[in-house]
Amino acid sequence: MDTLVIDAAAAITLEDIAEQAERAKAVVSQVRGRMLAPNARKKPPTFSTAQLMVLTGLDKSQVDYRLRKGDLPGGTLNSTGSRREFSLAEVRHWVREHRREELRPERAEAITITIGNFKGGVTKTTTALTLAQGLSLRGHKVLMIDCDPQGSMTTLFGLLPDSDVEIEDTVLPLLTGKQAELSYAVRPTYWDGIDLVAAASFLFSAEFFLPARQSREPNFEFWNLLHYGIDTLRPQYDVIIIDTPPALSYVTINALMASDGIIMPLPPSALDFASSAQFWDLFSDLTTQLITDRGGKKEFAFIDVLLAKVEAKDHAGMMVREWIAAAYTDKVLPVEIPKTMAANASSAEFGTVYDPSPEGSGARTVKRAYEAYDRFVELIEDQTQTFWRRQMEA
Ligand SMILES: Nc1ncnc2c1ncn2[C@@H]1O[C@H](COP(=O)(O)OP(=O)(O)OP(=O)(O)O)[C@@H](O)[C@H]1O
Ligand SMILES: [Mg+2]
Repeated sequence: MDTLVIDAAAAITLEDIAEQAERAKAVVSQVRGRMLAPNARKKPPTFSTAQLMVLTGLDKSQVDYRLRKGDLPGGTLNSTGSRREFSLAEVRHWVREHRREELRPERAEAITITIGNFKGGVTKTTTALTLAQGLSLRGHKVLMIDCDPQGSMTTLFGLLPDSDVEIEDTVLPLLTGKQAELSYAVRPTYWDGIDLVAAASFLFSAEFFLPARQSREPNFEFWNLLHYGIDTLRPQYDVIIIDTPPALSYVTINALMASDGIIMPLPPSALDFASSAQFWDLFSDLTTQLITDRGGKKEFAFIDVLLAKVEAKDHAGMMVREWIAAAYTDKVLPVEIPKTMAANASSAEFGTVYDPSPEGSGARTVKRAYEAYDRFVELIEDQTQTFWRRQMEA
Protein backbone atom coordinates (compact mmCIF):
# COMPACT_ATOMS: atom_id res chain seq x y z
CA MET A 1 0.00 0.00 0.00
CA ASP A 2 1.08 3.51 -0.75
CA THR A 3 0.23 5.20 2.53
CA LEU A 4 2.80 7.14 4.45
CA VAL A 5 4.38 4.99 7.12
CA ILE A 6 4.85 6.72 10.42
CA ASP A 7 7.12 5.36 13.08
CA ALA A 8 4.59 3.75 15.44
CA ALA A 9 6.45 4.89 18.53
CA ALA A 10 6.36 8.52 17.37
CA ALA A 11 2.83 8.53 15.96
CA ILE A 12 0.36 10.86 17.62
CA THR A 13 -3.12 9.39 17.79
CA LEU A 14 -6.40 11.24 18.11
CA GLU A 15 -6.61 9.86 21.64
CA ASP A 16 -3.27 11.55 22.38
CA ILE A 17 -4.69 14.82 21.12
CA ALA A 18 -7.81 14.43 23.26
CA GLU A 19 -5.62 13.82 26.28
CA GLN A 20 -3.49 16.85 25.46
CA ALA A 21 -6.64 18.98 25.13
CA GLU A 22 -7.81 17.86 28.57
CA ARG A 23 -4.40 18.65 30.04
CA ALA A 24 -4.30 22.15 28.50
CA LYS A 25 -7.83 22.88 29.73
CA ALA A 26 -6.89 21.75 33.24
CA VAL A 27 -3.84 24.04 33.27
CA VAL A 28 -5.95 26.98 32.05
CA SER A 29 -8.41 26.48 34.92
CA GLN A 30 -5.56 26.22 37.40
CA VAL A 31 -3.85 29.42 36.34
CA ARG A 32 -7.01 31.39 35.61
CA GLY A 33 -6.52 33.46 38.74
CA ARG A 34 -3.22 34.73 37.42
CA MET A 35 -3.97 34.69 33.72
CA LEU A 36 -7.61 35.52 33.19
CA ALA A 37 -8.50 37.76 36.10
CA PRO A 38 -11.81 36.28 37.22
CA ASN A 39 -14.76 38.60 37.74
CA ALA A 40 -13.80 39.48 41.30
CA ARG A 41 -10.40 40.75 40.21
CA LYS A 42 -11.47 42.66 37.16
CA LYS A 43 -12.03 46.15 38.52
CA PRO A 44 -13.27 49.29 36.80
CA PRO A 45 -11.08 52.39 37.11
CA THR A 46 -11.72 55.17 39.62
CA PHE A 47 -11.35 58.83 38.75
CA SER A 48 -9.86 61.95 40.32
CA THR A 49 -11.56 65.35 40.20
CA ALA A 50 -9.11 66.34 37.44
CA GLN A 51 -10.18 63.34 35.35
CA LEU A 52 -13.83 64.15 36.00
CA MET A 53 -13.17 67.65 34.67
CA VAL A 54 -11.66 66.30 31.45
CA LEU A 55 -14.54 63.87 30.86
CA THR A 56 -17.32 66.40 31.58
CA GLY A 57 -15.62 69.47 30.12
CA LEU A 58 -16.27 71.35 33.38
CA ASP A 59 -13.72 73.58 35.11
CA LYS A 60 -12.86 73.36 38.79
CA SER A 61 -15.30 76.03 39.92
CA GLN A 62 -18.17 74.45 37.97
CA VAL A 63 -17.41 71.07 39.57
CA ASP A 64 -17.29 72.68 43.02
CA TYR A 65 -20.60 74.43 42.33
CA ARG A 66 -22.31 71.16 41.41
CA LEU A 67 -20.78 69.45 44.44
CA ARG A 68 -22.18 72.16 46.73
CA LYS A 69 -25.54 71.91 45.02
CA GLY A 70 -25.40 68.22 45.92
CA ASP A 71 -27.59 66.88 43.11
CA LEU A 72 -24.82 64.78 41.51
CA PRO A 73 -22.85 61.95 43.16
CA GLY A 74 -20.10 63.41 45.34
CA GLY A 75 -17.57 60.58 45.15
CA THR A 76 -15.56 59.57 48.20
CA LEU A 77 -13.20 61.85 50.12
CA ASN A 78 -9.87 60.39 51.24
CA SER A 79 -9.04 60.26 54.95
CA THR A 80 -7.53 63.77 55.03
CA GLY A 81 -10.39 65.20 53.01
CA SER A 82 -7.97 66.59 50.42
CA ARG A 83 -8.82 64.36 47.46
CA ARG A 84 -12.03 63.10 46.00
CA GLU A 85 -12.35 59.81 44.16
CA PHE A 86 -15.26 59.03 41.83
CA SER A 87 -16.42 55.57 40.78
CA LEU A 88 -17.01 54.78 37.10
CA ALA A 89 -20.78 54.81 37.65
CA GLU A 90 -20.55 58.21 39.37
CA VAL A 91 -18.42 59.67 36.60
CA ARG A 92 -20.83 58.39 33.95
CA HIS A 93 -23.68 60.02 35.82
CA TRP A 94 -21.86 63.39 35.67
CA VAL A 95 -20.93 62.88 32.03
CA ARG A 96 -24.49 62.07 31.00
CA GLU A 97 -25.68 65.20 32.79
CA HIS A 98 -23.15 67.45 31.05
CA ARG A 99 -23.03 65.90 27.58
CA ARG A 100 -26.79 65.75 26.99
CA GLU A 101 -26.50 67.28 23.53
CA GLU A 102 -24.03 64.56 22.51
CA LEU A 103 -26.19 61.64 23.57
CA ARG A 104 -28.68 59.62 21.55
CA PRO A 105 -31.92 61.47 20.90
CA GLU A 106 -34.83 59.70 22.56
CA ARG A 107 -36.50 58.62 19.34
CA ALA A 108 -33.31 57.30 17.73
CA GLU A 109 -32.07 53.73 18.14
CA ALA A 110 -28.67 52.19 18.77
CA ILE A 111 -26.12 52.12 16.00
CA THR A 112 -24.70 48.63 15.44
CA ILE A 113 -20.99 48.39 14.61
CA THR A 114 -19.11 45.22 13.67
CA ILE A 115 -15.36 44.91 14.02
CA GLY A 116 -14.22 42.58 11.27
CA ASN A 117 -11.21 41.29 9.37
CA PHE A 118 -10.59 37.70 8.52
CA LYS A 119 -6.98 37.95 9.46
CA GLY A 120 -6.20 36.84 13.01
CA GLY A 121 -4.47 39.02 15.58
CA VAL A 122 -5.07 42.39 13.88
CA THR A 123 -6.53 43.79 17.18
CA LYS A 124 -10.25 43.30 16.41
CA THR A 125 -11.07 42.38 20.00
CA THR A 126 -8.86 45.08 21.53
CA THR A 127 -10.45 47.64 19.21
CA ALA A 128 -13.98 46.47 20.07
CA LEU A 129 -13.45 46.65 23.82
CA THR A 130 -11.52 49.94 23.76
CA LEU A 131 -14.24 51.51 21.64
CA ALA A 132 -16.93 50.27 24.03
CA GLN A 133 -15.11 51.65 27.06
CA GLY A 134 -14.32 54.95 25.36
CA LEU A 135 -17.94 55.46 24.29
CA SER A 136 -19.23 54.55 27.75
CA LEU A 137 -16.91 57.19 29.26
CA ARG A 138 -18.56 59.67 26.91
CA GLY A 139 -21.90 58.76 28.47
CA HIS A 140 -23.21 56.16 26.02
CA LYS A 141 -24.72 52.82 26.95
CA VAL A 142 -23.10 49.97 25.06
CA LEU A 143 -23.98 46.34 24.36
CA MET A 144 -21.13 44.08 23.27
CA ILE A 145 -21.90 40.90 21.39
CA ASP A 146 -19.09 38.35 21.25
CA CYS A 147 -19.50 36.33 18.05
CA ASP A 148 -16.10 34.63 18.20
CA PRO A 149 -16.08 31.01 19.44
CA GLN A 150 -12.62 31.78 20.89
CA GLY A 151 -14.45 34.02 23.36
CA SER A 152 -11.55 36.49 23.67
CA MET A 153 -13.90 39.39 24.33
CA THR A 154 -15.71 37.33 26.93
CA THR A 155 -12.33 36.56 28.55
CA LEU A 156 -11.48 40.28 28.63
CA PHE A 157 -14.58 40.73 30.77
CA GLY A 158 -13.14 38.28 33.28
CA LEU A 159 -15.21 35.25 32.27
CA LEU A 160 -13.71 31.92 31.34
CA PRO A 161 -15.61 30.77 28.21
CA ASP A 162 -15.29 27.06 28.96
CA SER A 163 -16.66 27.18 32.50
CA ASP A 164 -18.50 30.47 33.00
CA VAL A 165 -20.53 30.56 29.79
CA GLU A 166 -23.67 28.51 29.11
CA ILE A 167 -25.36 28.14 25.74
CA GLU A 168 -28.13 30.49 26.92
CA ASP A 169 -25.53 33.24 27.50
CA THR A 170 -24.63 33.34 23.81
CA VAL A 171 -26.14 34.02 20.38
CA LEU A 172 -26.42 30.27 19.70
CA PRO A 173 -30.11 29.80 20.74
CA LEU A 174 -30.98 32.71 18.46
CA LEU A 175 -29.07 31.13 15.57
CA THR A 176 -30.64 27.70 16.08
CA GLY A 177 -34.12 29.23 16.17
CA LYS A 178 -34.78 28.35 19.82
CA GLN A 179 -35.10 32.04 20.61
CA ALA A 180 -36.46 34.78 18.39
CA GLU A 181 -34.69 37.72 19.99
CA LEU A 182 -31.41 38.10 21.84
CA SER A 183 -32.37 39.80 25.13
CA TYR A 184 -32.27 36.44 26.98
CA ALA A 185 -28.44 36.43 26.72
CA VAL A 186 -27.61 39.94 27.93
CA ARG A 187 -25.64 40.25 31.18
CA PRO A 188 -24.08 43.21 33.00
CA THR A 189 -20.28 43.43 33.29
CA TYR A 190 -17.72 44.89 35.71
CA TRP A 191 -17.84 48.06 33.59
CA ASP A 192 -20.83 50.32 34.28
CA GLY A 193 -22.51 51.14 30.96
CA ILE A 194 -21.37 48.00 29.11
CA ASP A 195 -23.50 44.83 28.89
CA LEU A 196 -22.30 41.63 27.27
CA VAL A 197 -23.56 38.70 25.22
CA ALA A 198 -20.81 36.15 25.80
CA ALA A 199 -19.27 33.49 23.54
CA ALA A 200 -17.64 30.09 23.97
CA SER A 201 -16.29 27.35 21.73
CA PHE A 202 -19.65 25.62 21.25
CA LEU A 203 -20.68 28.63 19.15
CA PHE A 204 -18.71 26.97 16.37
CA SER A 205 -21.55 24.46 15.87
CA ALA A 206 -23.48 27.27 14.12
CA GLU A 207 -21.04 26.83 11.21
CA PHE A 208 -22.54 23.38 10.57
CA PHE A 209 -26.08 24.08 11.61
CA LEU A 210 -26.74 27.19 9.52
CA PRO A 211 -25.64 25.84 6.09
CA ALA A 212 -27.48 22.57 6.75
CA ARG A 213 -30.70 24.41 7.53
CA GLN A 214 -30.21 26.74 4.56
CA SER A 215 -30.00 23.79 2.14
CA ARG A 216 -33.11 22.17 3.65
CA GLU A 217 -35.17 25.38 3.65
CA PRO A 218 -34.58 27.58 0.59
CA ASN A 219 -36.59 30.46 2.08
CA PHE A 220 -34.54 30.49 5.27
CA GLU A 221 -32.26 33.54 5.48
CA PHE A 222 -29.38 32.48 7.72
CA TRP A 223 -27.72 35.89 7.33
CA ASN A 224 -30.60 37.84 8.90
CA LEU A 225 -30.96 36.01 12.23
CA LEU A 226 -28.85 38.42 14.27
CA HIS A 227 -30.19 41.43 12.33
CA TYR A 228 -33.76 40.67 13.44
CA GLY A 229 -32.67 39.15 16.74
CA ILE A 230 -31.37 42.47 18.09
CA ASP A 231 -34.40 44.54 17.05
CA THR A 232 -35.77 44.65 20.60
CA LEU A 233 -32.36 45.69 21.94
CA ARG A 234 -31.77 48.55 19.52
CA PRO A 235 -34.04 51.00 21.43
CA GLN A 236 -32.38 50.08 24.75
CA TYR A 237 -28.78 50.93 23.87
CA ASP A 238 -26.85 53.75 22.27
CA VAL A 239 -24.28 51.57 20.57
CA ILE A 240 -24.11 47.82 19.89
CA ILE A 241 -20.60 46.53 19.12
CA ILE A 242 -20.02 43.06 17.67
CA ASP A 243 -16.66 41.30 17.85
CA THR A 244 -16.12 38.65 15.18
CA PRO A 245 -13.80 35.68 14.62
CA PRO A 246 -10.91 35.88 12.14
CA ALA A 247 -13.03 34.35 9.38
CA LEU A 248 -15.87 35.29 7.07
CA SER A 249 -17.91 32.60 8.80
CA TYR A 250 -21.70 32.18 8.85
CA VAL A 251 -21.76 33.95 12.21
CA THR A 252 -19.56 36.79 10.92
CA ILE A 253 -21.92 37.26 7.96
CA ASN A 254 -24.77 37.57 10.47
CA ALA A 255 -22.81 40.23 12.33
CA LEU A 256 -22.04 42.21 9.18
CA MET A 257 -25.66 42.05 8.01
CA ALA A 258 -26.90 43.25 11.41
CA SER A 259 -24.58 46.27 11.26
CA ASP A 260 -24.91 49.90 10.35
CA GLY A 261 -21.15 50.42 10.43
CA ILE A 262 -18.07 48.25 9.92
CA ILE A 263 -14.61 48.90 11.34
CA MET A 264 -11.68 46.95 9.96
CA PRO A 265 -8.49 47.23 12.03
CA LEU A 266 -5.57 46.82 9.64
CA PRO A 267 -1.86 46.71 10.51
CA PRO A 268 0.29 48.20 7.73
CA SER A 269 1.89 44.92 6.66
CA ALA A 270 1.82 43.57 3.10
CA LEU A 271 0.20 40.27 4.05
CA ASP A 272 -2.48 41.91 6.17
CA PHE A 273 -3.20 44.34 3.36
CA ALA A 274 -3.54 41.55 0.78
CA SER A 275 -5.79 39.64 3.13
CA SER A 276 -8.02 42.68 3.62
CA ALA A 277 -8.52 42.89 -0.15
CA GLN A 278 -9.64 39.26 -0.18
CA PHE A 279 -12.05 39.99 2.67
CA TRP A 280 -13.85 42.71 0.72
CA ASP A 281 -13.81 40.63 -2.47
CA LEU A 282 -15.42 37.68 -0.71
CA PHE A 283 -17.80 39.96 1.16
CA SER A 284 -18.90 41.52 -2.11
CA ASP A 285 -19.41 38.11 -3.81
CA LEU A 286 -21.45 36.89 -0.87
CA THR A 287 -23.66 39.92 -0.55
CA THR A 288 -24.32 39.96 -4.30
CA GLN A 289 -25.44 36.36 -4.08
CA LEU A 290 -27.44 36.67 -0.85
CA ILE A 291 -28.91 40.14 -1.17
CA THR A 292 -28.64 41.81 -4.58
CA ASP A 293 -29.51 38.75 -6.68
CA ARG A 294 -32.62 38.22 -4.56
CA GLY A 295 -33.78 41.77 -5.11
CA GLY A 296 -32.74 42.85 -1.61
CA LYS A 297 -30.86 45.92 -0.45
CA LYS A 298 -28.40 46.63 2.34
CA GLU A 299 -26.72 49.91 3.12
CA PHE A 300 -24.06 50.89 5.62
CA ALA A 301 -23.74 54.25 7.33
CA PHE A 302 -19.95 53.91 7.33
CA ILE A 303 -17.07 51.58 6.67
CA ASP A 304 -13.83 52.51 8.41
CA VAL A 305 -10.33 51.16 8.03
CA LEU A 306 -8.33 51.69 11.22
CA LEU A 307 -4.54 51.58 10.94
CA ALA A 308 -3.48 49.41 13.86
CA LYS A 309 -0.24 48.25 15.45
CA VAL A 310 1.64 50.97 13.57
CA GLU A 311 5.37 51.02 14.25
CA ALA A 312 7.04 54.42 14.41
CA LYS A 313 10.10 53.83 12.21
CA ASP A 314 8.86 51.10 9.91
CA HIS A 315 9.86 51.94 6.31
CA ALA A 316 8.20 48.93 4.71
CA GLY A 317 5.10 49.91 6.66
CA MET A 318 5.22 53.39 5.09
CA MET A 319 4.87 51.85 1.65
CA VAL A 320 2.00 49.61 2.70
CA ARG A 321 0.27 52.63 4.21
CA GLU A 322 0.36 54.22 0.75
CA TRP A 323 -1.27 51.10 -0.72
CA ILE A 324 -3.90 51.16 1.99
CA ALA A 325 -4.62 54.83 1.26
CA ALA A 326 -4.87 54.10 -2.48
CA ALA A 327 -7.18 51.13 -1.96
CA TYR A 328 -9.46 52.45 0.76
CA THR A 329 -9.20 56.22 0.11
CA ASP A 330 -11.53 58.21 2.38
CA LYS A 331 -12.49 55.12 4.38
CA VAL A 332 -9.14 55.19 6.17
CA LEU A 333 -9.66 56.91 9.53
CA PRO A 334 -7.33 59.88 10.17
CA VAL A 335 -5.73 58.23 13.20
CA GLU A 336 -3.15 55.52 13.75
CA ILE A 337 -3.06 53.18 16.71
CA PRO A 338 0.63 52.77 17.61
CA LYS A 339 2.15 49.41 18.28
CA THR A 340 3.03 49.50 21.95
CA MET A 341 4.62 47.06 24.27
CA ALA A 342 2.28 48.52 26.85
CA ALA A 343 -0.80 47.26 25.00
CA ASN A 344 0.83 43.85 24.87
CA ALA A 345 1.89 43.86 28.48
CA SER A 346 -1.40 45.12 29.81
CA SER A 347 -3.27 42.55 27.79
CA ALA A 348 -1.37 39.79 29.56
CA GLU A 349 -3.40 41.18 32.42
CA PHE A 350 -6.30 41.45 29.98
CA GLY A 351 -6.83 45.18 30.09
CA THR A 352 -6.97 48.11 27.66
CA VAL A 353 -5.73 51.70 27.82
CA TYR A 354 -8.93 52.59 29.72
CA ASP A 355 -8.55 49.87 32.35
CA PRO A 356 -6.71 50.69 35.58
CA SER A 357 -3.03 50.30 34.64
CA PRO A 358 -0.79 47.93 36.59
CA GLU A 359 1.66 49.72 38.89
CA GLY A 360 4.52 51.40 37.05
CA SER A 361 3.54 50.47 33.48
CA GLY A 362 5.44 52.55 30.91
CA ALA A 363 4.08 56.05 30.86
CA ARG A 364 5.04 57.47 27.47
CA THR A 365 3.90 54.71 25.13
CA VAL A 366 0.71 54.21 27.12
CA LYS A 367 0.00 57.91 26.78
CA ARG A 368 0.51 57.76 23.01
CA ALA A 369 -1.79 54.75 22.68
CA TYR A 370 -4.33 56.38 24.98
CA GLU A 371 -4.42 59.56 22.91
CA ALA A 372 -4.76 57.63 19.65
CA TYR A 373 -7.61 55.51 21.00
CA ASP A 374 -9.32 58.61 22.39
CA ARG A 375 -9.18 60.25 18.97
CA PHE A 376 -10.51 57.03 17.40
CA VAL A 377 -13.44 56.94 19.84
CA GLU A 378 -14.16 60.59 19.07
CA LEU A 379 -14.28 59.86 15.32
CA ILE A 380 -16.67 56.95 15.81
CA GLU A 381 -18.85 59.04 18.12
CA ASP A 382 -19.08 61.65 15.33
CA GLN A 383 -20.22 59.03 12.83
CA THR A 384 -22.68 57.66 15.38
CA GLN A 385 -24.20 61.08 15.94
CA THR A 386 -24.56 61.57 12.18
CA PHE A 387 -26.30 58.18 12.06
CA TRP A 388 -28.75 59.24 14.80
CA ARG A 389 -29.45 62.56 13.03
CA ARG A 390 -30.26 60.73 9.79
CA GLN A 391 -32.60 58.42 11.72
CA MET A 392 -34.44 61.46 13.09
CA GLU A 393 -34.77 62.98 9.62
CA ALA A 394 -36.06 59.78 8.04
N1 LIG B 1 -1.63 48.69 19.96
C1 LIG B 1 -1.12 47.47 20.12
N2 LIG B 1 0.21 47.26 20.05
C2 LIG B 1 0.74 46.03 20.19
N3 LIG B 1 0.03 44.94 20.45
C3 LIG B 1 -1.30 45.07 20.54
C4 LIG B 1 -1.95 46.34 20.38
N4 LIG B 1 -3.27 46.15 20.54
C5 LIG B 1 -3.45 44.84 20.78
N5 LIG B 1 -2.28 44.18 20.78
C6 LIG B 1 -2.04 42.75 21.00
O1 LIG B 1 -2.20 42.05 19.77
C7 LIG B 1 -2.72 40.75 20.01
C8 LIG B 1 -3.95 40.53 19.16
O2 LIG B 1 -4.97 41.43 19.58
P1 LIG B 1 -6.50 41.02 19.53
O3 LIG B 1 -6.76 39.78 20.29
O4 LIG B 1 -7.27 42.24 19.87
O5 LIG B 1 -6.63 40.72 17.96
P2 LIG B 1 -7.83 39.98 17.21
O6 LIG B 1 -7.83 40.54 15.81
O7 LIG B 1 -9.08 40.12 17.96
O8 LIG B 1 -7.36 38.48 17.20
P3 LIG B 1 -8.23 37.21 16.75
O9 LIG B 1 -8.17 37.23 15.26
O10 LIG B 1 -7.56 36.05 17.35
O11 LIG B 1 -9.62 37.43 17.25
C9 LIG B 1 -3.01 40.68 21.50
O12 LIG B 1 -1.95 40.02 22.14
C10 LIG B 1 -3.07 42.13 21.91
O13 LIG B 1 -2.72 42.30 23.25
MG1 LIG C 1 -10.44 38.65 18.57
